[in-house]
Amino acid sequence: AEFEMILTETQGCAGIIRLNRPKALNALCDQLMDELAQALRAFDSDPAIAAIVLTGNEKAFAAGADIREMQPRSWPGTYLNDFIAPWEAVLTVRKPVIGAVAGFALGGGCEVAMMCDILLAADTAKFGQPEIKLGILPGAGGSQRLTRAIGKSKAMEMILTGRMMDAAEAERTGLVSRVVPADTLVEEAVSLAQRIGEHSRAGVAMAKEAVNAAFELPLREGVRLERRLFLSAFGTPDQQEGMAAFNEKRKPNFGG
Ligand code: HXC
Repeated sequence: AEFEMILTETQGCAGIIRLNRPKALNALCDQLMDELAQALRAFDSDPAIAAIVLTGNEKAFAAGADIREMQPRSWPGTYLNDFIAPWEAVLTVRKPVIGAVAGFALGGGCEVAMMCDILLAADTAKFGQPEIKLGILPGAGGSQRLTRAIGKSKAMEMILTGRMMDAAEAERTGLVSRVVPADTLVEEAVSLAQRIGEHSRAGVAMAKEAVNAAFELPLREGVRLERRLFLSAFGTPDQQEGMAAFNEKRKPNFGG
């Protein structure tokens, strides 16, 4: 596909998507989000790809939904033509999505980052939900995902004041898994994707599904889902191969 607002490439089994609207700090307009959804779907269905890296540029992952595009919108048009609905494409990807944030991840940018399965931050990253300053509130899951990630008091403070959080605070509060130097961010994310790609595809997909269930299900139901997935993993050739390789003291060669 031909894209104008994103760049895609592959490095081995890693599919890389770069948001590329630098003049607007990667503001997430409708076209960009459509292109992102298409690119995610293409990598998700490409058997050569094991995991996806989603990143921006050194100044911004994304500074939010496009304020210029949103300004003329009014209700009930917003309700009848829900412009946030296409954003959910990020959530339906079955392969792991690694968000790699340098610079601003604000508003909808922070929300898209939080839709990723693993978040890496450059030391330059700044996260925030500044919607309150525009007379609105987070609308793509920010009030829910930020609260689950960093707890009520800090999420409330961030969302009610619109202040930004730096990379160190994001790591300390558990919003991101790791902080790395800005000039190695994409490299680190790609190597993480490739490390994931060495494992069983089915095992990885099931593990992602199980972890995500922790955000949707009561504990008992989540544990039941995990148990069913775990027991069904014994139907995969990769379980045979993984355990045989361990017992034969060799590296596994996963193909399933
Ligand atoms: C449209 C944006 C934009 C945005 C930046 N730009 N953010 N355009 N939508 N969200 C544009 C600016 O208008 C400017 O264009 C160019 O990018 C560079 O931005 P500057 O402001 O000149 O850069 P700087 O002074 O470095 O300030 C960076 C910044 C600031 C602090 C990130 O741009 C900022 O506050 N942006 C808005 C952040 C925000 O409020 N995000 C939440 C949006 S609401 P020109 O043409 O002037 O050069 C939202 C709702 C989500 O996301 C709900 C679900 C959809």
